[in-house]
Amino acid sequence: MKRLFCLILLLASATWRLEAQNPGWPVPDDQKGKICLVKFTPDMVKQGEAIYMKNCQSCHGIPTKKNFAAIVPSPGDLSESKVGSQKDGELFYRITTGKVPMPEFRNILTEDERWSVISFVRTYHKGYKQPDPEKLAGAAGKRIRLSMAYDTVKKKIMVKAVELSKDGPQPAKGAEVVIFIQRYFGNMQLADPKPTSEYGYAGFDWPQDLPGDKRGNVIVTARVNDPTGSMQEALVKDTLTIGVPTDKPSLTDTRAMWSTRDKAPVWVILTYTLAVLVVWYFIIYIILAVLDIRKIKQV
Ligand code: HEC
Repeated sequence: MKRLFCLILLLASATWRLEAQNPGWPVPDDQKGKICLVKFTPDMVKQGEAIYMKNCQSCHGIPTKKNFAAIVPSPGDLSESKVGSQKDGELFYRITTGKVPMPEFRNILTEDERWSVISFVRTYHKGYKQPDPEKLAGAAGKRIRLSMAYDTVKKKIMVKAVELSKDGPQPAKGAEVVIFIQRYFGNMQLADPKPTSEYGYAGFDWPQDLPGDKRGNVIVTARVNDPTGSMQEALVKDTLTIGVPTDKPSLTDTRAMWSTRDKAPVWVILTYTLAVLVVWYFIIYIILAVLDIRKIKQV
């Protein structure tokens, strides 16, 4: 029994150690699964090497030579296993966002250039196997464009997904679509995610009692549900006049904390003024008391 317990503890700490890869520099979960949409080629590696020598070598040194710059935090040698064990998405995120003193490469290298640097660094990681972009489940990893329209007969929002493949645009089937409606604070998901049909369509029943603005406008966003984060900009946002026209007073019309004209509610102004007066009363009282001390001493 005790042994089993120790084993579980050991396993748990082992997985925790795997999770805590460079814990001081966390990568958001939805970025970790991002992968390169093309297979790494020798050409790409060559281009990556040139980019590395120009942009990274000054700090990270030549891979395996351990001649990285002696700065804090240490850049380290990118051929090390603590880098090798990271997912492509993690490396991509780190190169994209940087972390002082490492520059943010978002605007310095294009996405393709960042991937070619990764393909170069990967040549030093033993046992690394590139995730196959072709084999990703569903629509992940594809370039998909969405469009949206309201079907007045079926009373449905129809979302169409088109895949931009090598042989031109094709209907994207099996892409999981989610739609959101903009409310006062953030977006509200309208229904459960739906996969697109064989012809690339997903239809969402539109609730007929949903309030819109004065003219019945509702801002609807549709996007492809993509846990791997490898889908490129599969999102469409549109204003549709399909809500129930509702004349609700704007949140900023009356006195409120978030109002742009009459900011604070009256009770806040009163409490604040009172507090300021009380504080000043004490300050003046103390100054007068101190002056009194001097007078007594002079006597
Ligand atoms: C100005 C110096 C500098 C330059 C230039 C630089 N880096 Fe870094 N890099 C660092 C430092 C310092 C760290 C460690 C940051 C930390 O872990 O807190 C780092 C960390 C990293 C990591 C994460 C390593 C890990 O252990 O998780 C990767 C990946 C990386 N750099 C890739 C690159 C690539 C690729 C380039 C070139 C395109 C580059 N860096 C250019 C300084 C630099």
